[in-house]
Amino acid sequence: MMKGAQILVAFVLLALASSLASAFDPSPLQDFCVAINDTKNGVFVNGKFCKDPKLVNAEDFFFSGLNKQGNTSNQLGSKVTLVNVGQISGLNTLGISLARVDYAPYGGLNPPHTHPRATEILVVVEGTLYVGFVTSNPDNRLITKVLYPGDVFVFPVGLIHFQFNIGNTNAVAFSGLSSQNPGINTIAKAVFGSNPAINPEVLAKAFQLDKNIVNQLQSRLRIMKERMKQMSQCCDEATREDGDVCTTEAIKDDGELDCEEAVRVENIGKCWDLHVKCPRGKGYQILLSRQNCYYKHF
Ligand SMILES: *[C@@H]1O[C@H](CO)[C@@H](O)[C@H](O)[C@H]1NC(C)=O
Ligand SMILES: *[C@@H]1O[C@H](CO)[C@@H](O)[C@H](O)[C@H]1NC(C)=O
Repeated sequence: MMKGAQILVAFVLLALASSLASAFDPSPLQDFCVAINDTKNGVFVNGKFCKDPKLVNAEDFFFSGLNKQGNTSNQLGSKVTLVNVGQISGLNTLGISLARVDYAPYGGLNPPHTHPRATEILVVVEGTLYVGFVTSNPDNRLITKVLYPGDVFVFPVGLIHFQFNIGNTNAVAFSGLSSQNPGINTIAKAVFGSNPAINPEVLAKAFQLDKNIVNQLQSRLRIMKERMKQMSQCCDEATREDGDVCTTEAIKDDGELDCEEAVRVENIGKCWDLHVKCPRGKGYQILLSRQNCYYKHF
């Protein structure tokens, strides 16, 4: 009887251990397993098929261009360039990937996010970063450090972390991640910008916020996303057809917000009106029309 219970306990522990192990990329059972899309000659391993090793070449393990600066002209002032199994098929099953992060001067932010499948080790190459992560419940301890070129910092798997450029120059960092596909959950975007939106009552209660503020945060992200999509469609069309005459007939918008936006995009007839408000300087406005890529600063 006792023996049976011991075997049962051992079995449960084993089952637990193997379910934990499978939450991470599997250890490779061969030299490599270069990912392929064509499944005809593949062997299934953790979601990606392996290319016939005889057909594998250096290109399967190669990526070029991480010397290029990422474009940080966006609301957050940061740009992550990922090099994972999507860019290097040869990373399949090897449990590792790389990223370059660029940060604009004076507050470029890689906002609070988690990697559900990877621990991250970051090295600063240029600039000054204030970085940190928060431990899980119940302590939620914030662990932070200011990093300079050559400094290395670790963000443990699954924990919320961020990097913030506190210098007056560009900053650049490279990160190694312990997964071929680490995954990214950006907290603000996932929570307030989900599709469809989470019921505002849920977020108001969870964040102890007024429901109107929740509505504002949600519609701000939704409207921005929608307008950017419309604008890129409009630009695509403009490159195909002859430009239309710019009309100033305003289009009534039901989702209009009366709060101040850092970046706002509106369409006025066949034109696009961009308002950009800089945190250190006055705001400006750019008018784009489909006719000859006309634009104007106000
Ligand atoms: C596999 O398919 C995806 C999506 O269609 C594509 O982006 C990727 O380049 C393909 N990879 C290979 C190795 O052909
Ligand atoms: C950077 O991105 C912005 C906004 O998308 C764009 O206007 C600008 O041309 C880009 N700059 C470069 C150098 O690609």
